[in-house]
Amino acid sequence: MQFCRAMKLSAVTMTALVTMLGLVNGAVAAEKAVAASAPVGKNAVAQITSTVCAACHGADGNSVITLNPKLAGQHPEYLVKQLTEFKSGKRANAVMSGMAAMLSDEDMKGVANYFASQNIVLGKAQSNGVGSLGEKIYRGGIAANHVPACAGCHGANGAGLPKQFPRLSGQHADYTLTQLRTFRTGERANAPMMMAISSKMSDSEMAAVADYIQGLR
Ligand code: HEC
Ligand code: HEC
Repeated sequence: MQFCRAMKLSAVTMTALVTMLGLVNGAVAAEKAVAASAPVGKNAVAQITSTVCAACHGADGNSVITLNPKLAGQHPEYLVKQLTEFKSGKRANAVMSGMAAMLSDEDMKGVANYFASQNIVLGKAQSNGVGSLGEKIYRGGIAANHVPACAGCHGANGAGLPKQFPRLSGQHADYTLTQLRTFRTGERANAPMMMAISSKMSDSEMAAVADYIQGLR
């Protein structure tokens, strides 16, 4: 009798085990399906970054041409915002509008995460080091013209603040200067804060702070 009960129990246990195994197998199969599709997404991103973006931004997001921004280490949310706005035309740029038009929302997230995870190669200022006009503007703004300190939003070391303020440190001075100028003319009209700030800056002030930012770390 006791033996029988044990048999019965073990039969139940066996059934449960078999069911569980089945579930496990199902889960494993599902996991395999996900695993099989994940590398495809990754490969698609690698394909885009290495065959399209690399030509101008460098394979690791450290562009050599100084009018092309470094993308390495930039916050992914900021990169997605820019790609979305190049695509919609909110940020006007003939080259990048064409590039962004080819990307789906998923592609944008993928390439943004890829470049954000790369290490930025830092630069050096040409003449705006410690005690320079560039440093004064970056750290203290231009009080007479009500220009706020860049550090107030972009951080003391230019690392920015994820989701809100882009990283600036190490960026090519030529690119930074172009952005400040196009914010001022309204050609880059996707950032009201920067349009207001740059409208109060002279060319030489922009050049000084852009040079300082190139060497900032
Ligand atoms: C033919 C050269 C070229 C190619 C190819 C190219 N870009 Fe660009 N990209 C530029 C230039 C030039 C700018 C700066 C535009 C400006 O001055 O507003 C830029 C700007 C950007 C920005 C804005 C960065 C910032 O700091 O605001 C992002 C993001 C970007 N590119 C991503 C990409 C991605 C992703 C690809 C590949 C799908 C790509 N680019 C392909 C030339 C290129
Ligand atoms: C009140 C906050 C604030 C202050 C102060 C500020 N910025 Fe910005 N800045 C922003 C925001 C927000 C953006 C992102 C714009 C966007 O989303 O397109 C930005 C973007 C930029 C960009 C574009 C980066 C890129 O990769 O294209 C540059 C260059 C820049 N700021 C330079 C400066 C400089 C130089 C100063 C000081 C004179 C400064 N900022 C002060 C908020 C600020």
